[in-house]
Amino acid sequence: MRVIIGALAVLLTACAGPSTETEQMLATPEVVEAVERPEWRLVIHGGAGVITRERLTDEQEAAYRAALETALEAGAEVLRNGGSAVDAVQAAVIPMEDDPLFNAGHGAVFTAAAEHELDASIMDGRDRNAGAVAGVKRVKNPILAARAVMDQSEHVMFAGAGADAFAEDQGLELVPNSYFDTERRRQSLERVLRERARTDADRHGTVGAVAIDKEGNLAAATTTGGMTAKAAGRIGDSPLVGAATYAQNGVCAVSATGHGEYFIRVAVAKTICARVELSGETIGPAAQEALDQVAALGGDGGVIVIGGDGQYEYVFNSKGMYRGMIDPKGHHTAIFGD
Ligand code: GLY
Repeated sequence: MRVIIGALAVLLTACAGPSTETEQMLATPEVVEAVERPEWRLVIHGGAGVITRERLTDEQEAAYRAALETALEAGAEVLRNGGSAVDAVQAAVIPMEDDPLFNAGHGAVFTAAAEHELDASIMDGRDRNAGAVAGVKRVKNPILAARAVMDQSEHVMFAGAGADAFAEDQGLELVPNSYFDTERRRQSLERVLRERARTDADRHGTVGAVAIDKEGNLAAATTTGGMTAKAAGRIGDSPLVGAATYAQNGVCAVSATGHGEYFIRVAVAKTICARVELSGETIGPAAQEALDQVAALGGDGGVIVIGGDGQYEYVFNSKGMYRGMIDPKGHHTAIFGD
């Protein structure tokens, strides 16, 4: 949200009247703008893809909006009480991992071997510490495993059985792989295996959050089941710092969703933050440029971005993206591209 610095203009005008071109410009409130950093803010996504009004019933739309609001409120509760951005993004994505509407945690897509292999990452903009897990099969909430990697290990990323074992050592809740099953995702797997082709929806679905806290710290989190009928061991962009997740205080925080192979090749999240940091671009054009690179390679998806000043953008080149924002002044959710 932009606020106009009217006070300076009024003061200049009152003291001397606008006598030079510069002062006349300053005296024109529309010309001099600055951004007001929100006290705190949280932005989330629940995946991008061919999500159009025609494809969603009113009931489905209402269910997604309610789920997005639950996630927003979970993260906002942390920020409102003075908690950190990294705690807030974690809190926001956990309800989405638990909700079968989303392709993360319970409700994640199946691999070609009819299992679930889950990926997640989290990053703290204060010190660019990060944690990630890839291909976990037993951790109920993969984002908590990623957080434990960040906080409780000397490493940034664990994969496969070692990641599950690490999570167990950390006392995280483990579940049988069948906990993640849903009938809807099983039907998708059977169709993809039968038709030997993925629809747009089969390639998409990831949840994520970015936030700025009262101290101005940034953080990002991303978590997914990946792609329907993915080969065992396939890892997408979601657990990769710099591809789907990045956070750097004073610069930006990004969480991405989309066809992961392309997001890895463009290193989308780091590309956006590097453009902001090094070229001084604002977050919107920087994100658009990165997504244009994804599109040029043949990929699609979207990002949520929050800047060091708390301004935020949703940028996607798919038809829709489940998304929402909350700050002390209110909240909203959106789904479609229009
Ligand atoms: N963006 C999620 C994935 O490709 O795995």
